[in-house]
Amino acid sequence: MTVIRGHDVGEAARRLKAGQLVAFPTETVYGLGANALDEMAIQAVFEVKGRPSNHPVIVHVADARAVAAWARAVSTAAKKLMHAFWPGPLTLVLPKHPQVSPSITAGQDTVAIRCPAHPKAQQLLQAFAHITNKNAGVIAPSANRFGQVSPTTSDHVYAEFSKQKTHEIYLLEGASAQVGIESTILDLSQPKAMPRILRPGHIQPKEIAKVLGLKEDEVRFAFSEQRVAQAQDKTQFIPRVSGSLKAHYAPSTPLKLFRRAQLNKMLDQAKGQRIAVVGCGPLNIENQVQRCEWLPAEPKTYATRLYETLRRLDEIGFDALWFEQPAQTNAWTAVNDRLLRAAAAF
Ligand code: TXA
Ligand code: MG
Repeated sequence: MTVIRGHDVGEAARRLKAGQLVAFPTETVYGLGANALDEMAIQAVFEVKGRPSNHPVIVHVADARAVAAWARAVSTAAKKLMHAFWPGPLTLVLPKHPQVSPSITAGQDTVAIRCPAHPKAQQLLQAFAHITNKNAGVIAPSANRFGQVSPTTSDHVYAEFSKQKTHEIYLLEGASAQVGIESTILDLSQPKAMPRILRPGHIQPKEIAKVLGLKEDEVRFAFSEQRVAQAQDKTQFIPRVSGSLKAHYAPSTPLKLFRRAQLNKMLDQAKGQRIAVVGCGPLNIENQVQRCEWLPAEPKTYATRLYETLRRLDEIGFDALWFEQPAQTNAWTAVNDRLLRAAAAF
């Protein structure tokens, strides 16, 4: 038994202190946690995930006061954003404090910090700070093997790690992740530059701009298809955000994106195949495919259910999964990003 499931926050905190691994729920996705000051425990997280060492991880803290122990400089903009969105699904990239291990930052001079809102995550971080020190940090990448779909329920985490035999993981049970996709990552590490979004998420450029007194189009996305293409050459390019690898968040069943107008033609061509089709809103083609489902045509509720849907359909064993591509608008950027990367694997 290498995954132990339980509800005991105190036990989870003691295990973190003892250098062991603890998977826990956050409002975005489940994380695989380790004491951010324990080098062996950090290495264990990379090993269990199969994560390359050039992919930096996020330090999770119980509150904004702990940030000074992990970041060398905390700008006014950073303070405003923490005040507005923490605890919550926003990760800030700041100049790193000297105490932060290079294995957390992949040798970069910056560190990503987040304060999660999920009650179980909060309880765990507070309990851990209580028995270690008030500025304690927990590194926690998503609790999935590298490149796989992130987990939004404890059953997903169990399915990911129960077969590995090398490390014991305490899986702290809690309510499923309500946001459903990973946190928005905002780069604030260059004091003179505009903040840049490194990974789109639940918190939108418009909301960030409002807090900082900027115009919406001044908060730009830093990723681009060119960066994604560059990231293919893993030997030369150290990705600042692992989600910027083109094929990420991928199921094992081939995934294709489609537009509604193409669907009839695609159905004609796929006769005899076992296809699951997922609409963005109702589709009404139930009689024509093995499985037809739809997700709400509203980005935040869609995101809540995306990974659960991907994982569930992936397990059934269809020949292909077809997801309808949502609108190309700002509100859908985070969902489109995850869908494009999941489909890029095929
Ligand atoms: O919602 C989340 O952020 C979840 C939960 C568990 O908190 N965590 C998460 O961790 O998604 P992970 O490791 O799957 O993704 C962390 C992302 C990676 O894409 C990594 O490249 C980026 O954060 N990152 C970490 N440190 C960074 C840094 N110093 N500069 C830029 N990106 C960084
Ligand atoms: Mg991840």
